[in-house]
Amino acid sequence: MLAARVLMLGAGFLLAIAAAAVAKPNSPDERVLQEKPLSDKSHDDHTDFGYDHDAFLGGKQAEDFDKLSPEESKTRLSMIVDKVDSDGDGYVTVEELRAWIQHTQRRWVYEYADKHWKDSDNSGKMSWEEYRNATFGSLAFDSSPTSGYDYKRMVGRDERRFKGADQNGDGELEKEEFVAFTHPEEFEHMKDLILTETMEDIDKNQDGFISVDEYLGDMYEPLEGESEPDWVKTEREHFVKFRDENQDGKMDRQEMRAWIMPAGYDHVQAEAKHLVMESDKDKDDKLTKEEILENWSMFVGSQATNYGDDLTRKHEEL
Ligand SMILES: *[C@@H]1O[C@H](CO)[C@@H](O)[C@H](O)[C@H]1NC(C)=O
Ligand SMILES: *[C@@H]1O[C@H](CO)[C@@H](O)[C@H](O)[C@H]1NC(C)=O
Repeated sequence: MLAARVLMLGAGFLLAIAAAAVAKPNSPDERVLQEKPLSDKSHDDHTDFGYDHDAFLGGKQAEDFDKLSPEESKTRLSMIVDKVDSDGDGYVTVEELRAWIQHTQRRWVYEYADKHWKDSDNSGKMSWEEYRNATFGSLAFDSSPTSGYDYKRMVGRDERRFKGADQNGDGELEKEEFVAFTHPEEFEHMKDLILTETMEDIDKNQDGFISVDEYLGDMYEPLEGESEPDWVKTEREHFVKFRDENQDGKMDRQEMRAWIMPAGYDHVQAEAKHLVMESDKDKDDKLTKEEILENWSMFVGSQATNYGDDLTRKHEEL
């Protein structure tokens, strides 16, 4: 749900790291962890419910639902509602919907972790050595600079992230902990580590602060004899005006946090409220299964007309 270039660093996939370690972001925005909308589709309920479907089901599942008959679609929705109602009291609250949407939006993150899970001794947990060997092989011990990549630094960084993800401190990662390792941006307890990693990337003289030159140097390298482009001048002004809040000439950790982790719009919360509000017939701020099924087409899609008739046209004719 969050995206930024910084997150590709570290996560331990050698080529990805190596590439990211040399590439510069093209603008300061690429460093920013932003809340993304829950779907690429525009959110206009007067046209269709494509956005709501993607939010409630996740993009892939929403597509599958589009192929179902209305009856089948309702049957499956009914089973989903039982899961969404996590305390089983017969009501779906905004909070429960929020947790559900969060889960559907993160599904790919869990799939990704599954795919990259390295557990050579099948213990159900991943030790640092298992991870390191599978990811870096003998390069983990390669201190010769021939490749142009600083493997020692990459391994050190991954090891620190590994420890940060090991929440129960048993020295190994369980699946859930591994998800925090591969996608730290999704987890509150990993955010400090992301700050540290980003700080290290930009803070070339390692004094714990970002100077304006380091800030600009992160995104721009002057060519011989080239005069400073306008966008760089603008960024210089931004640094002084906005990034350096306490006006001491440099950006500290707290100012860095304000920059890369701004309090954004909470798409998940907004959607959870929206779904409840629209279908809450008796206005008690929560939904029964009946209320959801009565407004089922808002939650899930289905090929309401011409079912199975023309699959290639299904996207246009919602
Ligand atoms: C990892 O690699 C090292 C060096 O090749 C080896 O000694 C060690 O047994 C390996 N550990 C695991 C868990 O595979
Ligand atoms: C279902 O949701 C739509 C959202 O646009 C709303 O207009 C409609 O009144 C809802 N129907 C019921 C039965 O609540």
